[in-house]
Amino acid sequence: MKIITVLGARPQFVKAATVSRALKASNSNLEEKILHTGQHYDVNMSDVFFEEMGIPKPDFRLDVNNKGHGAMTGQMLKEIEEILIAEKPSIVLVYGDTNSTLAGALAAKKLHIPIAHVEAGLRSFNIKMPEEINRILTDRISDLLFCPTENAVENLKKEGFDTIDCEVLNVGDVMYDGALHYAKSIKERAIENDYVLSTIHRAENTDDVSRLTGIISALNKINEDISVVVPLHPRTRKIIDNLDLQVNFKILEPVGYLKMVNLIKYANLVITDSGGLQKEAFFFGKYCVTTRDETEWVEMVEYNFNILAGADEDKILESYNILIKKPFVKTIEPYGKGNSAHLIAKKIESFLSK
Ligand code: UD1
Repeated sequence: MKIITVLGARPQFVKAATVSRALKASNSNLEEKILHTGQHYDVNMSDVFFEEMGIPKPDFRLDVNNKGHGAMTGQMLKEIEEILIAEKPSIVLVYGDTNSTLAGALAAKKLHIPIAHVEAGLRSFNIKMPEEINRILTDRISDLLFCPTENAVENLKKEGFDTIDCEVLNVGDVMYDGALHYAKSIKERAIENDYVLSTIHRAENTDDVSRLTGIISALNKINEDISVVVPLHPRTRKIIDNLDLQVNFKILEPVGYLKMVNLIKYANLVITDSGGLQKEAFFFGKYCVTTRDETEWVEMVEYNFNILAGADEDKILESYNILIKKPFVKTIEPYGKGNSAHLIAKKIESFLSK
């Protein structure tokens, strides 16, 4: 039984590492082959994750990047289809909400190959986000929908998924498994003593000058109070350079997962527009200010672990002031038991044995 995992962007490497390990450990006759679309291609956006997280080397490596959405998704679709036709997998496994996710799912469905979608059911309800479009379409054509939370299951119910021929399962969040696993390897101390960790990469923030300047001015102000450390996505760096924006905080090259976990673990607070980092902050006992107007991880906001501040300078500063000194007490465990990858591997195995 052959699985082809289609991935291409940083957050997918983090999730696939954990699921690949579980697939290997399952001792079944499942064989996984990895297809990397090349969407993320820099050493520090891609290779470092494969090396330090022990992800099997890609069996197929495309080079589709630096393109508009249509050209990127279209070229991936064409090239993935050719590989699937030649390889005839029993199932295609996709993660999250990137263009690589959608292309992988669409190529598989047209060839009548079943699809397993990890991180199904998430919604921001902002249909302008490319990620929202990708996840709605991928969910709709998937056969196994692995949801990370009960909220995600509810979202799918509301969209009528109980009348669609597919299986929706709450298996918990594979990122929680990963955080527990890799936290054990973090021994070195923090790079700074007191600091706020921040990232900016969402198109809605980087491609809108007023939003980007709102976030950067807020981080500049916070940096007068406490160091702000920002491992910066190449997309954002290019735009900051082009606009010649003034930055007073510390910019780092994008960091690998282990360095990221280290940075989160010792941070005083996290300020981000990343989906993954919002939860990783919680896993490691940190509050988060989210520089978006909505989030898929609504339970974090509902239970006051996260404040949605948007991109408004004053609102970000106000949220920072609320959370920076607040003692952190974990009162909920909404992301499963840390055994999601195992549940996913078991389910794929039983699905394919039918
Ligand atoms: C993509 C995903 C997003 C995910 C994010 C994680 C889509 C639509 N978006 O956004 O869901 O949260 O990955 O990072 O799939 N670039 C480099 N080096 C790299 C990768 C990218 O320089 O290794 C630059 C390229 O110039 C590219 C730009 O960053 O044009 C944006 O990359 P792209 O793949 O379009 O989207 P992300 O912002 O990374």
